[in-house]
Amino acid sequence: MIELREVVKRYGEVVALDGVSLKVEAGEWVSIMGPSGSGKSTMLHLIAGLDTPTSGSILVAGEEVSAMSAEARAEFRRCRVGMVFQQFHLIPYLTALENVMLAQYIHSIPDEDEALLALERVGMAHRARAEAAKLSGGEQQRVAIARALVNDPGIILADEPTGNLDAGNEAVVLELFRELAEEGRTLLVVTHNAEVAGAGDRVVRIHHGRIENG
Ligand SMILES: Nc1ncnc2c1ncn2[C@@H]1O[C@H](COP(=O)(O)OP(=O)(O)O)[C@@H](O)[C@H]1O
Ligand SMILES: [Mg+2]
Repeated sequence: MIELREVVKRYGEVVALDGVSLKVEAGEWVSIMGPSGSGKSTMLHLIAGLDTPTSGSILVAGEEVSAMSAEARAEFRRCRVGMVFQQFHLIPYLTALENVMLAQYIHSIPDEDEALLALERVGMAHRARAEAAKLSGGEQQRVAIARALVNDPGIILADEPTGNLDAGNEAVVLELFRELAEEGRTLLVVTHNAEVAGAGDRVVRIHHGRIENG
């Protein structure tokens, strides 16, 4: 379970999150919607332990991520969280396979067979040796999902994962998310897309750093 308790995040004068409380059950798929600048990415960053709240606390499976040292947060993120972004963030001059193996290296040890399996599961094994920059947007996002899965994370945090994709590739990514949810993983997916949002178990709406519905 992920639990945010009265989380406030300030960047100087800007209040990005203004007292957010939220509970997400293990295995739940929650869609997060809200206008640009409402605090959605900030919320994912804090849950991933990339940053800490100004006040309030964040618990993941009973562990208080917001109280951990920077090292412990990095370890938490490596072991428990997979992240997917709108801009894919692959290293353009490395191959698909190398991008996945680089993530393995950060998590533990590179294993080419395992990396190929991760690419296979997102339907990208046939493009394993292609440079990331030469892949289409949809292919790059599938590689990015393979990369997010190499540490077998229980939690997937996705920030507008279909924001740069056409309808066909959006459907491919949604199907992958359905599989991840069926495997019992917890998914938090920020999206502006009603269809993507509707695929989850429920929608949480955020506005000016506050949740409008629980
Ligand atoms: N690292 C940062 N430094 C300063 N301000 C930030 C930073 N990250 C986010 N903000 C501000 O916090 C608010 C929420 O941003 P963000 O969480 O990115 O919103 P969203 O993802 O919903 O578009 C915005 O006003 C944004 O400018
Ligand atoms: Mg954002």
